[in-house]
Amino acid sequence: MKSINQKSKSAIENAIKGLNGQPILLVGMMGVGKSTIGRRLAAILNMPFADVDDEIIISANMDISDIFENHGEDHFREGERKVIQRLMDGKQKVIATGGGAFINEQTRALILKQSVSIWLYAELDILVSRVNRRNNRPLLKNGDPKKIISELSKIRDPIYALAQYHIRTDNAPHSKTAINIIKALSV
Ligand code: S3P
Repeated sequence: MKSINQKSKSAIENAIKGLNGQPILLVGMMGVGKSTIGRRLAAILNMPFADVDDEIIISANMDISDIFENHGEDHFREGERKVIQRLMDGKQKVIATGGGAFINEQTRALILKQSVSIWLYAELDILVSRVNRRNNRPLLKNGDPKKIISELSKIRDPIYALAQYHIRTDNAPHSKTAINIIKALSV
C-alpha cells in the first residue's frame, strides 16, 4: 500500500506530466484567490509563479487604477494580453490572471491555445467579503461591490466555464485548493 507521501508525490508527478510542458493559467472573478492559490500551487509543484496584474504594474510603472483612469480599460486589456503572451514563454509555470483577462476574446484564445486553464470559483458572498478588504479595484470603485460582482458574474461565469478545469474554492484554505487543483490535474 502506498503511503500518503508517496500518493501525493505521484499525484504531483502525474499533474506535471499532464501539463505537457504548458503553463497553468488561473482565471476567475476578483476576490476568488487566484494570486494566493497560484503562489501555493507553484510552490508545491516547484515551478515559478507570475501574477499578471503585478507584471502590468511593473511594465507600465503605474497602478491598475491609474491605467484605467488615464488610458481607459481597452488600453489595459491590450497591455494585459501582451503581458500574458510574454509570460507564456514555453516554460512551465503557474500564472494568475486578473479577473477580466479570460473574458477578452483574443486573450482567451491565447490562453486556451497555449496553457492549461483553470477556473477558480466561489460563492458571491465570499467574493464580496474578500474584495471588501482592499479598495484598489477600478471596476468596483463606482458602486456597490456586491451588485457589481453579481452582475459581472452573470456575464462572465459562462465564459469562465470555457476553461479546461473548474475548481470551487469557497472558504477552503488556499493550500487545500492548491491540492484540489493537483488532484484534478493528476487524473
Ligand atoms: C479585473 C480584475 C483585477 C484587475 C483589474 C480588472 C477584472 O484583478 O485585473 O482591476 O476585470 O475583473 P483581480 O481579479 O486579481 O482582482
